[in-house]
Amino acid sequence: MAEPIILGIESTCDETAAGIVQGNTLLANVVASSMDMHARYGGVIPEIASRAHAEAFVPVVQKALESANLDLSDIDGIAVSAGPGLAGCLAVGVSGAKALALAANKPIYGINHVIGHISVTQLQFGAIPENALALIVSGGHTSLLQVKDIARDVRIVGTTLDDAAGECFDKIARLLGFPYPGGPHIDRHAKLGDKNALRVPQGLTKGNAGKQHPYDFSFSGVKTAVARWIEQRQEQGEPIPVDDVCASLADSVADVLSGKAMKACKALGSDTLIVGGGFSANSQLREALLAKGKQQHVEVRLPRRELCTDNGSMVAMLGSNLMNAGVEPSPLDFSIDSAMALDQIVMH
Ligand code: KG4
Ligand code: ZN
Repeated sequence: MAEPIILGIESTCDETAAGIVQGNTLLANVVASSMDMHARYGGVIPEIASRAHAEAFVPVVQKALESANLDLSDIDGIAVSAGPGLAGCLAVGVSGAKALALAANKPIYGINHVIGHISVTQLQFGAIPENALALIVSGGHTSLLQVKDIARDVRIVGTTLDDAAGECFDKIARLLGFPYPGGPHIDRHAKLGDKNALRVPQGLTKGNAGKQHPYDFSFSGVKTAVARWIEQRQEQGEPIPVDDVCASLADSVADVLSGKAMKACKALGSDTLIVGGGFSANSQLREALLAKGKQQHVEVRLPRRELCTDNGSMVAMLGSNLMNAGVEPSPLDFSIDSAMALDQIVMH
């Protein structure tokens, strides 16, 4: 029998997206972003993002169906990000998806967006092996998760105690005068600078804190240290070596993320590391992970760049995993959960 065709809908933040998958095959991936509308505010404005979702929802779904040459009636199931994310944004996607499910009489899964970032790697690498470890690095999350079974059993190994890596990059980028989101600008400038120009603190890596939190992250000290360094230069009337700041920051953060991920792989006996979230597009992190993975004989599964950032196919892929595993769909009165726990795969 042919594998079910799943439509996935994403609206957690500033992307309205619809993706369609069948098994591990991507049939459509349409993304509309409201990022430009937020750029001048230096961050995502929830009210503006919600309105953009309301406008883009139907056209994006239509375009996805068209590009896959399908009708809504050809879809076997619908998946939608129910959390974590911005409440008003989630509400638009979830309501729209429920309307489609009701109209077409299809099962619906309210899924966890973060676990979708793990799931999407199957489009490139095939099924996730048993006991894989996942490093999630996005604007809002920096976490290590143990994936026992993508449809039924995901466990939290570590998480950030304060800022996420993406958030930290975006804040520092703002100090350096880059528009939102600043992560990609830091990435680009880091390639041109000296990574030893300034010392960037590596939170929870050494001493007692490191022992107590071997798999947790802390990036708030990074932001403070870099901000202070920049201020001191400014006070002394010295120019800011932007490339050097970016290189030092990117190298240090990549070192912490890859180091802790590899340590967790070793401790949990995982020989596959799955990486996901917008920040996994970061060149310095990708390089560090591949290098350490090679040393430690861990296969590092990095999504291609357009699958790193928020999209609908990641949602569809997790929906497909749930349907294939025979997991009960969500009831039609399921809610959104803006703070959905990272070990909750689907809404009940
Ligand atoms: O997963 P995502 O698209 O949205 C959330 O769910 O948060 O991640 C967005 C984050 C932003 O903080 C952005 O600056 C960061 O990913 N990002 C990058 C790069 N591309 C995106 N950070 C560093 N280097 C990049 N190349
Ligand atoms: Zn995301």
